[in-house]
Amino acid sequence: MTGDHLQIVVCGAGPAADVTQLVRAAHDRAWTAAVTATPNAMNFIEPETIESLTGQPVRSTYRSSPGARRSLPAADALIVAPATYNSINKIALGLADNYAMTSVAELIGRQVPTVIVPFVNAALAGRLPFRRAVASLRHEGVRVLLGPEEQWEPHPPGGGDERQRVFPWANAFEVAAKCAHEVRVSAAGQQ
Ligand SMILES: Cc1cc2nc3c(=O)[nH]c(=O)nc-3n(C[C@H](O)[C@H](O)[C@H](O)COP(=O)(O)O)c2cc1C
Repeated sequence: MTGDHLQIVVCGAGPAADVTQLVRAAHDRAWTAAVTATPNAMNFIEPETIESLTGQPVRSTYRSSPGARRSLPAADALIVAPATYNSINKIALGLADNYAMTSVAELIGRQVPTVIVPFVNAALAGRLPFRRAVASLRHEGVRVLLGPEEQWEPHPPGGGDERQRVFPWANAFEVAAKCAHEVRVSAAGQQ
């Protein structure tokens, strides 16, 4: 392992079931990874499978297992994927109403390079609050993989199953790793 650590936050949408693909992408590049889930995402994932792969408990609440650290581990990058309409709007507003949202709020505040990969249908993505949320997050320096330039578009309502199969896990990791590298280079240049 390189010593680099990826924090992953999954939200309640179909691709959450495939988050092990992101963990494997990180492991392939010698990063460690840990998964935090929103309470709704717990209905979409198999925590035991993820835990056996990452070697870390899947965190979803403020309660932690005996002996486990309560504070957030240091992270070199944060990926929120799949990110729901609900959570994207909350993150943009700074809401922290569950453990996952509190983690995201704090990691963005700590300037940890953050990539958000929405999984939102076109009806929801067209809503003004959502468009404002994406613009606000980008203004804050968060990389939101959405739109033609990111080659990831909202799917038609009802078309989620097909789109889930091509969810851009590998690209999300590559973008996050690149952002983390740029932050390190920039910090080294300032010393
Ligand atoms: C089977 C199922 C699939 C869902 N798929 C999506 C989805 O693809 N995108 C989305 O934004 N919300 C989806 N939702 C709705 C979210 O789960 C819901 O908005 C929830 O409040 C999100 O919570 P979270 O953002 O805290 O994870 C789905 C819900 C269900 C039950």
